[in-house]
Amino acid sequence: MNTPLYDFVKEYNTKNAVRLHMPGHKGKIAALESGFDITEIDGADVLYNEKGILKESQKNASDIFGTYKTLYSAEGSSLSIRAMLSLIKMYSLNARKHPLVLAGRNAHKVFMTASALLDIDVKWIFPEEKAELLSVNISPSYLEKCISDCEEMPVAVYITSPDYLGNISDIKAMSEICDKYGIILAVDNAHGAYLRFLPENMHPISLGAHMCCDSAHKTLPVLTGGGYLHISEKAPALIKSQAENAMSLFSSTSPSFLILTSLDRANEYLCNKMYEDTVKLQARICELKTRLSSVGYSVKGNEPLKLTLAAKAYGYTGDELAELLRKDNIECEFSDPDYIVFMFSTSTEDDEINRLKNTLIGIEKRAAVTQIVSIPVLYRAMSVKDALFSSSEEISTAFAENRVLASPSVSCPPAVPVAVCGERLNAEAIRCFEYYGIKKINVVKEG
Ligand SMILES: Cc1ncc(COP(=O)(O)O)c(C=O)c1O
Repeated sequence: MNTPLYDFVKEYNTKNAVRLHMPGHKGKIAALESGFDITEIDGADVLYNEKGILKESQKNASDIFGTYKTLYSAEGSSLSIRAMLSLIKMYSLNARKHPLVLAGRNAHKVFMTASALLDIDVKWIFPEEKAELLSVNISPSYLEKCISDCEEMPVAVYITSPDYLGNISDIKAMSEICDKYGIILAVDNAHGAYLRFLPENMHPISLGAHMCCDSAHKTLPVLTGGGYLHISEKAPALIKSQAENAMSLFSSTSPSFLILTSLDRANEYLCNKMYEDTVKLQARICELKTRLSSVGYSVKGNEPLKLTLAAKAYGYTGDELAELLRKDNIECEFSDPDYIVFMFSTSTEDDEINRLKNTLIGIEKRAAVTQIVSIPVLYRAMSVKDALFSSSEEISTAFAENRVLASPSVSCPPAVPVAVCGERLNAEAIRCFEYYGIKKINVVKEG
């Protein structure tokens, strides 16, 4: 029997590529051998019913992040997002409120599937001006307008910040607005665990969010799958007390101790050295952005440790730039027709940043391309839940006009759905699917 997956990863490893993608350890942390892969044996403690060493380790993480409580996830932010929505549902039922969440439309697909599973109603915040799929760029005043425009007060606001392209929202101002209206603020901070370690602490919990998820593995020296659910001191008592229950609702009963141990080991680094290393790296990335702008690249986003280039301004698609860099053994995090995204971490070395800079500068600038495809605003024909559990069929995207989308068809990354399940597709939506290379989609069966 062949081993295609093992062969691929082994070959990638031997290539020694400049890894400007997740995970944050960039292949450079000391490996934990299989002896560390244990289960919840006596003394190892039980995740989400912690009484011993897991409790102690999570308390260390909580102290580092300045939270009321931090829980580990061995299943990424995906698990923590499901838990946040479960907590919102529990809170709503307890307060006898309708579980309605006002959410930025660029939410990750787990948000959509989890809200359907939990029977949570979602009101979307679309961009104020036409924008691409991955960013909504919600300003605090626009958020307040969206809240005031709701016929019914939402129980929670859900913001993805940083978004996939490296835009950070003004969480501090948003939290003040949410507090004013008595609304829970939940933040998808999957890309921003490191924000705690900047000279200006930009972590959502420090800026007033009630809870957030971090994918530790995306930006910290942690194995893939390692994440956090952070609960703030200011969160309602029910959310504080039910966090473990909410995590265990969706989690595996066999959490990977390799991942949990890597979260534990990271605490030492986060506590002692992360801040110093982050400050240096931030300066290096800032220099890189300035240099690339000076030769004509269009640098997007305000996230300090991510570089996003709007490739078309330089005359290429993001995918074309990715291909050119691949020839120089540099692997990006993500590319699509419009953008190319690079993720740096404190494991990235200076000469790797220089290699990226020199290769990008060596690419000849061409005339800008000006095609843009925006998020389609669609009519909702049925609820997300009804659509997800409907009898459905897969058809060619080209024939999907007027059909109702059944399951979120996304390319991963970035896993932001072009249309929401239950929406009736129009010509603009079809164009958008095709633009992102999605050729087949699942629609609700008719008749
Ligand atoms: C914005 C955002 N939220 C959530 C997730 C899910 O995180 P994880 O892969 O840690 O489960 C991702 C994954 O890339 C993401 O980009």
